[in-house]
Amino acid sequence: MARPKIALIGSGQIGGTLAHLVALKELGDVVMFDIADGVPQGKSLDIAESGPAEGFDAKLSGTTDYADIAGADVCIVTAGVPRKPGMSRDDLLGINLKVMKAVGEGIKAHAPDAFVICITNPLDAMVWALREFSGLPHEKVVGMAGVLDSARFRHFLSLEFDVSMKDVSAFVLGGHGDTMVPLPRYSTVGGIPLPDLVKMGWTTQEKLDAIIQRTRDGGAEIVGLLKTGSAFYAPATSAIEMAEAYLKDQKRVLPCAAWVDGSYGLKGLYVGVPTVIGANGIERVIDISLDKDEQAMFDKSVDSVKGLVEACKGIDDSLA
Ligand code: APR
Repeated sequence: MARPKIALIGSGQIGGTLAHLVALKELGDVVMFDIADGVPQGKSLDIAESGPAEGFDAKLSGTTDYADIAGADVCIVTAGVPRKPGMSRDDLLGINLKVMKAVGEGIKAHAPDAFVICITNPLDAMVWALREFSGLPHEKVVGMAGVLDSARFRHFLSLEFDVSMKDVSAFVLGGHGDTMVPLPRYSTVGGIPLPDLVKMGWTTQEKLDAIIQRTRDGGAEIVGLLKTGSAFYAPATSAIEMAEAYLKDQKRVLPCAAWVDGSYGLKGLYVGVPTVIGANGIERVIDISLDKDEQAMFDKSVDSVKGLVEACKGIDDSLA
């Protein structure tokens, strides 16, 4: 059977890391695309040249021509600009919306059967716009945010409890922004929910609240340290987990920015929810029950995503 074809639209910091991971994990052959001529060609060649020492079998190429993504099984989209210190993800809206239009049209013309994972920020609005511009089925277009946000939450929790990250599971809902909703009662260490761990004296409510705030600010913390761009290793790894779930029909339960139409009382919106990813893309949206406080936080997050979607419609008439 031929190797899957994985198109990376955007060959910057995240795009390069994605290409490297795809090769190391032998998930398929890679086509890197970018408008900056030379960058996708150079990065793909550099990674290909690591193949003999690493011992992977994967073809890598770079291009500025959408025709070369033809027939891609997976497209991972990072095209656009990242944040600089002091910027919120929402500040990227206008410029990245134009990029989503070009990318969506490119995918529509050349890779309409692909599973598309969007990483470009502001995530929930950009994945919505990308779906609109590409016209692909909603279950085949998804945004990467929840896997990253919950990975950050898990990392901080593992430090607090001094336990393996493998034994920490964490649940994050809502938009990928300051209003994201980490859910302690659905987050566990070895199956023990966080509120129980507070009762057991493993941590205090104050410390847990601080960890939740650090998770919400996780992206800004990295931007503040790097100063010249935003996080790329963990975002790339998170998207690869989603791509692998699709390519291997793993039926993984992963939080993603998915199209929610009916569940959670929503009528058609991309927002972070738990999903099942398998060979059909987003195969299920898991509708969990929320208590009053959680629902209020989720509603606030949904409102902020809706505001960004409206802003997109105001910028580009074809979306209205
Ligand atoms: N088509 C294709 N590529 C484009 C386009 C376009 N229209 N516009 C910009 N690009 C390319 C840039 O040339 C650059 O190589 O997108 C790449 C973005 O790479 P970086 O600037 O390194 O950004 P990165 O850190 O990879 O983040 C990309 O993901 O997490 C989000 O907020 C982040 O929106 C940002 C995106």
